[in-house]
Amino acid sequence: MSIQFYPENKIFKLDTNSTSYAIQINKYGYLLHLYYGAAVSDSELDYLAYTCPHGAHFPRVESETAENPFFSKDLHRMEYSCNGCGDFRGSALAIKRSGGTEDTDIQYVSHKIYAGKPKIEGQPATYADEEQATTLEILCRDNVSGAEVTLFYSVFENLGAMTRHAIIHNASNEVMEVKRALSACVDFHDASDMDFIHLYGGACKERLFERSPLIYGIQGVSSKRGYSSHMQNPFVALCSHDATEESGDAYGFNLVYTGNFVATAEMDSDSGARVLLGINPEGFTWRLEPDESFVTPEAVMVYSNEGLGGMSRIFHKLYRNNLCRGYWKTRKRPILINNWEATYFDFNEEKLYDIAKTASELGIEMLVMDDGWFGSRNNSHSGLGDWFVNEEKLKGGLGKLTERVNALGMKFGIWFEPEMVSKRSELISAHPEWVLQIPDRHKSISRHQYVLDMSRADVRDYLFECIKAVLDNANIAYIKWDFNRSLTEAGSALLGSERQQEVFHRYVLGLYELLERLLNAYPELLLEGCASGGGRFDPAWLYYAPQIWASDDSDAIERLDIQYGTSMCYPTSTVGAHVSACPNHQVGRTTPLQTRGNVALAGTFGYELDLTKLTDEEKEIVRKQCADYHKYFDVIHNGNLYRLISPWKDRTKCAWMYVSDDKREALVTYVVIRYRIFQRNYLRLAGLDPNKRYLNEQTGQILSGDTLMRAGMNIQEILKDYDSRVYHFIAVD
Ligand code: DGJ
Repeated sequence: MSIQFYPENKIFKLDTNSTSYAIQINKYGYLLHLYYGAAVSDSELDYLAYTCPHGAHFPRVESETAENPFFSKDLHRMEYSCNGCGDFRGSALAIKRSGGTEDTDIQYVSHKIYAGKPKIEGQPATYADEEQATTLEILCRDNVSGAEVTLFYSVFENLGAMTRHAIIHNASNEVMEVKRALSACVDFHDASDMDFIHLYGGACKERLFERSPLIYGIQGVSSKRGYSSHMQNPFVALCSHDATEESGDAYGFNLVYTGNFVATAEMDSDSGARVLLGINPEGFTWRLEPDESFVTPEAVMVYSNEGLGGMSRIFHKLYRNNLCRGYWKTRKRPILINNWEATYFDFNEEKLYDIAKTASELGIEMLVMDDGWFGSRNNSHSGLGDWFVNEEKLKGGLGKLTERVNALGMKFGIWFEPEMVSKRSELISAHPEWVLQIPDRHKSISRHQYVLDMSRADVRDYLFECIKAVLDNANIAYIKWDFNRSLTEAGSALLGSERQQEVFHRYVLGLYELLERLLNAYPELLLEGCASGGGRFDPAWLYYAPQIWASDDSDAIERLDIQYGTSMCYPTSTVGAHVSACPNHQVGRTTPLQTRGNVALAGTFGYELDLTKLTDEEKEIVRKQCADYHKYFDVIHNGNLYRLISPWKDRTKCAWMYVSDDKREALVTYVVIRYRIFQRNYLRLAGLDPNKRYLNEQTGQILSGDTLMRAGMNIQEILKDYDSRVYHFIAVD
């Protein structure tokens, strides 16, 4: 078992092949955090607990004596920090009691260790069989309020990853209000040499990488928009100052949640740091009647001493193998052509068919019909909610179009934005009460639409039936599930005043329920997540949709930044990336078609332009790109990613590579961002077997792995702005 309990010193030790994590139950029954990091072999780690009793003013359980050693919740590293009883750092848990106070204080009661990993009912989470993971449950109790808290830890033994969540149970006879219930709390003993990493951004510039020294005080990211958001991602990392892509300590934290979240690192004056991750407590209170429970989302924690690259590769493997699921988990996804940037709302069945016909001749495998096929949807002002086919646009209906596209040998996909309703729609006239709203408050409008109350079962039933009617009447293989505005005035007509603070989370749970129901009914349906581009790129979505549209910025050069940041924890196989037209519709940049293809290959791969307008020469390039997608699929989608040159480094170039698990195959991509006269194009590779010799298929040169990794490649060509090259390496011995 990779989780052990040592009764002599009351220590839990949770090991993977590369990490250790240790918790101690102290003399007073409190859970202390002892260690998290590279694997250590000893279990007697209690010597790591804080032992420096200075300053009588720190609150403590009682005055220390020889029998009662020093213990202050404010100075010790606490495993799951509670509010109001002497720990003044950020709290993982705060429960308001019927008397109005928010004092919370939990102590150990019992524990269980078992093989495997339990499901989190109604919520997305990583999964594992009994060989892959071991789980520890620690039951704690607040003896005054009667709250019971079960802390769950699962370790993925062969992966350097662990997950956590908590269940808060009201075992008293009175109502409680959960004000904060975070998923993970990790206290670092010394974070003085650490950096803080997060992914910030906005629409068309999602998940940009930011790394800065951890500062004294609180640093963090959050969302209160009702979705995980473009602006911040529920991912943060701490790494040592000296961590590079391939060496140094890197700790990654990612929340499996698509709603309001918070992730903070708080460094105290003695350079200890507390990381907290979970549902954003702002605007959140969960009422627990006696015997009710609240379940937090899952937090994923990864540690690697092989730098940021090592951390990312663990996340990638975990998410590919133990988060993505179902029919499309490992299957090659069809190369798609999406008509959005080709036509926007201005299309009919002939236009779509012409695009599909050209696409089929070039090797593209699926037509995705984007926004505008339903209701009175000719622009963004109307139609959302009226999910029936607009037969003025699609003469003969969906059945006829899909049949014609299928006859070309192509699959057919369709766009929905189920959670929304247009101000001008039949649905809103029929059901104004289905909109999220606060009765006496003006409803903010955004993209001319309102948000449906996904906490309501009747709303979910309506949406399920609408989607079902479409799927049952035409051969549809794929849905792009879009979401184009934040939640505001988030009140629900069905909930009493005492539960309005639950709306954000109930919304998310309702969304999960609808997605689960849809996938149960249509297990072979391929879902692609989308939120005005990549506003919902989070692990919760990956549980339902194995691919997520990464950004509405499809420019190849902007995509370098976006895909670099996204790769911190999300695998290439999940990153929706398309080749689009030039000048690019978002930034006006013109880049070579080859480069657009090379950058989109580091994703799910597809097209988003009017193929009928391409020249014969361009069509030939597209044909070759589609062939390359198939040729390189395995190494890109199942291989290990090595980021070689960050696009942020000096803004002149960017490079990355994939290496197969057996190290017999590698694919290197090199992109020039800004050509500088006399620019040298040396590139040191990574992840190869130093003792193998590799044929570079493009140049014919054979070099050993050690030479390629130490001396590097010399790309002896003049590459100008936005030029790029892809090199395929095959081991020859
Ligand atoms: C936002 C998406 O990100 C786009 O790709 C497109 O589907 C539009 N919505 C359609 O309204």
